Amino acid sequence: MKRFCSGAVLWFAFVVALLAGFAQGAAPAQECGIASAHPLATRAGCDVLKSGGNAFDAAVAVAAALAVVEPYASGIGGGGFFLLHRGADAFEVFVDARETAPAKATREFFLDDNGQPRQKASLDGPTAAGIPGMPAALDWVSGHYGKLALARALQPAIGLAEQGFPADARYVWATGYREAMLKADVNAERIFLDNGNAVGPGFVVKQPQLARTLRMLAAQGRQGFYRGDFARRLVEAVRSGGGLWELSDLESYRVVERPPAKFSYRGATITSAPLPSSGGLVLAQSLFILERVALATLSETDRVHYTVEAMRRGYHDRARYMGDPDFVAVPVEKLASREYARQRAASIDPDRATPSDALAEIADAAAEGKDTTHFSVIDAEGNRVAATLSVNAPFGSGFVAGDTGVLLNNHMNDFSLAPSAANIYRLVGNEANAIEAGKRPLSSMSPTFVEDERGVLVLGTPGGARIISMVLEGILAYVDQPLFDLQRMVGASRYHHQYLPDRIEIEPGAFSQQWIAALRTKGHAVEEGRRKWGNMQAVYFDKKTGRVTSANDPRGQAGVLF
Ligand code: DON
Repeated sequence: MKRFCSGAVLWFAFVVALLAGFAQGAAPAQECGIASAHPLATRAGCDVLKSGGNAFDAAVAVAAALAVVEPYASGIGGGGFFLLHRGADAFEVFVDARETAPAKATREFFLDDNGQPRQKASLDGPTAAGIPGMPAALDWVSGHYGKLALARALQPAIGLAEQGFPADARYVWATGYREAMLKADVNAERIFLDNGNAVGPGFVVKQPQLARTLRMLAAQGRQGFYRGDFARRLVEAVRSGGGLWELSDLESYRVVERPPAKFSYRGATITSAPLPSSGGLVLAQSLFILERVALATLSETDRVHYTVEAMRRGYHDRARYMGDPDFVAVPVEKLASREYARQRAASIDPDRATPSDALAEIADAAAEGKDTTHFSVIDAEGNRVAATLSVNAPFGSGFVAGDTGVLLNNHMNDFSLAPSAANIYRLVGNEANAIEAGKRPLSSMSPTFVEDERGVLVLGTPGGARIISMVLEGILAYVDQPLFDLQRMVGASRYHHQYLPDRIEIEPGAFSQQWIAALRTKGHAVEEGRRKWGNMQAVYFDKKTGRVTSANDPRGQAGVLF
């Protein structure tokens, strides 16, 4: 793989730009190579870079700050993925801090007497919570790749938790959306609501207990969270709420370093998420199918038609084959091969939508897988981080573990509770993604790098099942559209197909009646979603100019959550 840091001149230009930014005081995203969903988290990262940290220290600072200021999206009671690239030697790794199923969380527990999924048990309250990976990830990324002490990287987050931050449009929206669930837990109600009500703009959210927990993590590292007195308190709180955790679940939690999914698309190198995220494989299959088509010469309708057919097949295989690779054998090599894409592409009719029902039943392959946040970082040493982190639904399980200030995720819902039962993102799966003790639920989170001779793009987004189609559309915008514009990419109108339900979902008001009618003529069902989706955060290094630019999704700034 080509070294990122190809010219001293380019880096000099970048460092000068950085220093100019810092000289002006609080560094906005453009000046420090960070794009995140919250300006206070971006500032935390810039602050750490300014004190001599690298992109990995900054990533720890941003992740911890997001855990405080976007508690509905990610947190130390959740998990996530960090995709890293080290500038000095081009080493790349995917740090998998996905939650794991507690040992007592059996399949039967999540089924009722009729064998139907108990969705609520996988969504609300402590039964919904997997064993968090985020505390271990912060310690791991800092200890293995950072230059500064963990305590330094956590400092901004501790300050934000202690002193509080003003609720923004998304916080206000999220508390309104999940008010009933938050009220069901006294601790969540006290911390996140305003006297039991959804909060208004500017309400100051203070989290002194979370600040204490972060201080403990800063002082003791991961041991402080997963072992001893603190771990016991977490387990007691979860069990008193009817949850299933045991001390051994916490003690045995490990982050896993995995080789990233890596492939080329029309000469660009794509580096993305391997299993237990379905992102890399679905992207590879979709892009290998699209590579067979002269996209640039097609009409808009035909381009969307082929892209949707590629998505349909990629998501179909997600449902058929994918799950935690430490538990199930997934035919990764086959799924990520051009020969397989050729076979899959053969069934695409240039003029007609393929009904999803016409693809093989997902059960056939059983023998052989708001909220969330994403941020992107590029530093002056050529290090890069793409991180997508989550507690799953907005405010996760809505359950805060006792007096720890730790809000727990609801990632048990990302498992397939029963064969072909849809989860909250209407994703279906099978045996490959069934619950087992210690297993990681299949994810769609897809932190991604795209590199070619022009530059390096670092991107990702929240959005459940739609994450992969958004990243796919981002890659197509970079590789296949003549004039690439970073801000236009994060703001572009979005369409999505995930095999089932069998329809193209589009953002409300985003496409013309003519656009819709042309796809319907080809036999596609096209449906407007109720809300826009995604909150893409991207950073771009232009190899020619040496400039780093960043772009925040306008949807996030407008208060849209999904
Ligand atoms: O891991 C996953 O795929 C989901 N739990 C991500 C959830 C998400 O993006 C929610 N966002 N809006």
